[in-house]
Amino acid sequence: MNANQIGALQALRGPALTFVDNPFQVGDDQALRYEPDALILIDNGVITAFGDYSSLRAQLNGHAVTHYPNSLILPGFIDTHVHYPQTEIMGAYGEQLIEWLNRYTFVAEQRFSDFDYAYSVAQVFLQQCLQAGTTTASVYCTVHPASVDAFFTAASELNMRMIAGKVLMDRNAPPALTDTASGGYDDSEQLIQKWHAKERLSYAITPRFAPTSTPAQLEAAGALWKAHPGTYLQTHLSENRKEIQWVRELFPERRDYLDVYAHYGLTGPRSIFGHAIHLSEAEWQHMAESGSAIAHCPTSNGFLGSGLFDFRRALQPDQGASPVRVGLATDVGAGTTLSMLRTQGEAYKIAQFGNYSLSAPKALYLATKGAAQALYLEDRIGSIAPGMEADLLVLDLKSTPLINFRMQHCNGIDDVLFVQMTLADDRATEAVYIAGELAYSRDRVATPAPATI
Ligand code: GUN
Ligand code: ZN
Repeated sequence: MNANQIGALQALRGPALTFVDNPFQVGDDQALRYEPDALILIDNGVITAFGDYSSLRAQLNGHAVTHYPNSLILPGFIDTHVHYPQTEIMGAYGEQLIEWLNRYTFVAEQRFSDFDYAYSVAQVFLQQCLQAGTTTASVYCTVHPASVDAFFTAASELNMRMIAGKVLMDRNAPPALTDTASGGYDDSEQLIQKWHAKERLSYAITPRFAPTSTPAQLEAAGALWKAHPGTYLQTHLSENRKEIQWVRELFPERRDYLDVYAHYGLTGPRSIFGHAIHLSEAEWQHMAESGSAIAHCPTSNGFLGSGLFDFRRALQPDQGASPVRVGLATDVGAGTTLSMLRTQGEAYKIAQFGNYSLSAPKALYLATKGAAQALYLEDRIGSIAPGMEADLLVLDLKSTPLINFRMQHCNGIDDVLFVQMTLADDRATEAVYIAGELAYSRDRVATPAPATI
């Protein structure tokens, strides 16, 4: 294997799987493309050809070929909602949303005014993303511009396609974590100028959620988003019953939670709403009609006891209703893993509680092409096809002795995928390519120094 070779012309060979359509709409078999012996040709970080090895081998022309005969090559995973500063509070015991925010999150986030500290955490976070096979994420920083500079600096060094932004909060948070409507606008605009569309980075205007922004700040966020087409808008929506009641009290004149955001021009293409668990039919319809996206965060929803996401209404609604764009997400630090495999497994369990059976191809779609579609990036990432950026994950299908044993009793690719999403984790990440370059190799990973306690 020539895994370390770097050059303009690269090729990967091995079993590969991608999506050519939406399995929620056309069915799993129609949507999925599986090549038992694929060749992926890459030129300058972009895929130029994908197909069966025997039919494409004639196109090899000095490509450095890396062969993974016993693994599965997938598009890199996409995490549509995650908080990098919360990496250090993953697994904090015992509370639901509002108490958890006050007790853990708003304490940890205060440290991110310091660039060096923020940069060191961003590096850890991004390495853990790579190790989990995640090549793109939509990321919350903190209220401090330095936390955004630190994150984008670290992401740029890895050439990763990342979306991120400064959190906006001008009320109901500790003074050290609040800005003002005009100060938040100015800081965000400077960050947009500095980072948006630079290399593979995109900016997301990030009002944390309605309770921590005044109407003036939400209005400023809407104006800023309008002034910078192509940027994203990310926030939280209807995660927790107490939170929803709070929003009702803070914005009594609005019809519902989503209407608060819609009123300030914060819905539409490239808006990403974390959670969206307790929605009314009017809210579902607005999500669908406006082209807004939901980031479904199953491990977080279980951990904080937030509730059950409605897969059926979101993705396969009854006749007459329109589906909504949905991507899977970890929502670390309320989420309990950065692994999108674990996240798919937990999404299946959440769906089960709602009597919806989330097949393995559908779950995988929500972590790849479906997530890319939610982010309006499906022409660049999320699938293996000519013209797509070569962000690829090589999955070891026998990553533990138990999975190895279980795989001997698998029947077909759907079965294999389901076992992986149910049992596997980041130990299954054999290699990750970012724009065609090897960015992570399990075999090369150094043992981390023991943490001091
Ligand atoms: N709602 C507002 N802020 C947050 C956050 O940091 N995490 C989660 N899970 N929900 C939120
Ligand atoms: Zn979140």
